[in-house]
Amino acid sequence: MEPAATSHAEGPVPPVHIAIIMDGNGRWAKARGLPRTAGHKRGAEAVRRTVEAAREMGVSYLTLYAFSSENWKRPAGEVTDLMGLLRLYLRNEVKVLHKNGIRLRVIGDRSRLGPDIVTLIEESEAKTAVNGALTLTLALSYGGRQEIVEAARRLAVEVAAGRLAPDAIDEAAISRNLFTADMPDPDLVIRTSGEKRISNFLLWQSAYAEFVFLDVLWPDFGRDELEAAIGDFHRRERRYGASG
Ligand code: FPP
Repeated sequence: MEPAATSHAEGPVPPVHIAIIMDGNGRWAKARGLPRTAGHKRGAEAVRRTVEAAREMGVSYLTLYAFSSENWKRPAGEVTDLMGLLRLYLRNEVKVLHKNGIRLRVIGDRSRLGPDIVTLIEESEAKTAVNGALTLTLALSYGGRQEIVEAARRLAVEVAAGRLAPDAIDEAAISRNLFTADMPDPDLVIRTSGEKRISNFLLWQSAYAEFVFLDVLWPDFGRDELEAAIGDFHRRERRYGASG
């Protein structure tokens, strides 16, 4: 078996695109007798640690599921708290991201977000657009099925207008009409907290991804856990190589 290619002093080349379903904030708080908000707050700290670790490890794309389309159904107070954390993150963290060469992007249905958050997103995306060290994508008000429906609608409009033949609709045409049009598909999808579901996250894009499910709750996630997941990913790749 050939040794894994190395580019970084620390070890094998990491996956190009890692996507994470951050789960377990509520359980983390409950186990400590704290309100769920406390779990989300610690979850935001885990986001900071993970972004920094991913950048240092040479990951090119990190996509985090920060708020799903279904999360709007949570109690109003919790939605307000989560939006407040996102607002704080966008206000305070973008300077650090920019300094570290990180590009920030947001995917999801912006029409449901508060206008001030949309403005913060637009400003953050514009400010960091030139950065190339790592692309951090936050999935906000995001749903994979809704994203595919939207792509189908856009293609239908093209067909109805006579600009596109139905036969010309192929996988590439769908991909081009997703939020992630110019990003590579995720190589590795991680979900924390022991749950083993995809929960409407990057449904189309993760068709060939490796999935790693970790028992750790999201607020306890950090560099070690990211390294462990990447290690698992590399072991699987080697196994496929040997049997393939
Ligand atoms: C799952 O925990 C997590 C979320 C609903 C969203 C993730 C949000 C954060 C990490 C905080 C803010 C994010 C940013 C980018 C600043 P859960 O509430 O579903 O946990 P449970 O399943 O244990 O109840």
